[in-house]
Amino acid sequence: MSPAAVVSGLGAWLPERTVDNHQLSTVLDTSDEWIRTRTGIGLRHIVAPGESTSDLAVAAGRRALESAGTTRVSAVVLATSTPDHSCPATAPDVASRLGLGGIAAFDVAAVCTGFVYALRVGAGLIATGADSVLVIGADTFSTILDPEDRTTRAIFGDGAGAVVLRAGAADEPGALLGFDLGSDGTGADLITVPAGGSRQRSTGVPAAEREHYFAMAGKPVFRHAVLRMSESTLAVRSAVGWTGVDRLVAHQANARILAAVGEQLALTEEQVVLNLDRVGNTVAASIPLALADAVVDGVLPPGARTMLCGFGGGLTWGSAALLWPDLAVQAPPRHR
Ligand code: UT7
Repeated sequence: MSPAAVVSGLGAWLPERTVDNHQLSTVLDTSDEWIRTRTGIGLRHIVAPGESTSDLAVAAGRRALESAGTTRVSAVVLATSTPDHSCPATAPDVASRLGLGGIAAFDVAAVCTGFVYALRVGAGLIATGADSVLVIGADTFSTILDPEDRTTRAIFGDGAGAVVLRAGAADEPGALLGFDLGSDGTGADLITVPAGGSRQRSTGVPAAEREHYFAMAGKPVFRHAVLRMSESTLAVRSAVGWTGVDRLVAHQANARILAAVGEQLALTEEQVVLNLDRVGNTVAASIPLALADAVVDGVLPPGARTMLCGFGGGLTWGSAALLWPDLAVQAPPRHR
């Protein structure tokens, strides 16, 4: 039987600069009240000029390696949709800066579902012979937001989170027990950066400036998110044979989406992990950042039947189930 992928380390990192709702409302037509009621977000961390996705990914990766008590892995899989450059991938640079040597390193792009996709890829590498894999989710969406778009600027923040997977047995705490991944490209236009890719560049016509910014159709995305996240988590719960779930640690896009999915899983408010009040929507970093905050806050106990779930651009979605392991985790830095 092929080995199981076991979560053996967890780390997270946030840039130092923060912007709270009150600060945003001094530059945009918005308010703390609107942002809190419609999304649950209170604060987001933003990279400084010159700071990039790889800087956050290296810091989170280092913490995950420390948490796992190791300095070596067989591969690095980096989930990001804001790589340092459109070419090459960012993961090889991250692996080198972590001193991991000439191992396999590549990016996975599935926007806010990126971390769950990357976990699945990491688990696949372990099933086919890798000893251990560093899986990182890191994004700096502040670098692609339209400065005049009050909706997206209210939501997105920057950050990184990472786990170490090692080869182990399916009955160990931390073993990834089941996955569900999906996509629907007919919704590609709902979450997009219209310009900058081959579709636009091949025309030879320079794009209008605003087309280089991220754009999201919030309402339909909200509806798709609730539907797909509910279906996906229920599918994994049934595939792994659980009668219930103890903790939902899902992509932190909107507290109302998380409440709706929690309801489908018959969870109480306390069983739905929320940290978006302090970090906003950090895209591929969202799930590992929420895991790290939950461990540090003592709301994710070892042994909890834990469901991870992401939803995002593509459209893409995915879920994974594990019994939470007993890990030493450092608090993500907070600079409030
Ligand atoms: O991470 C990937 C997946 N992403 C998601 O899951 C996001 C899903 N979508 C959402 O979370 C919500 O749709 C949003 C938070 C993006 C928007 O909330 P909403 O309740 O769907 O608001 P809306 O877009 O329908 O806008 C309602 C009103 C509009 O004004 P009018 O037309 O009613 O006068 C907006 O212009 O709220 C206005 N509005 C704002 N007002 C103050 C939109 N953004 C803001 C803002 N401050 N920041």
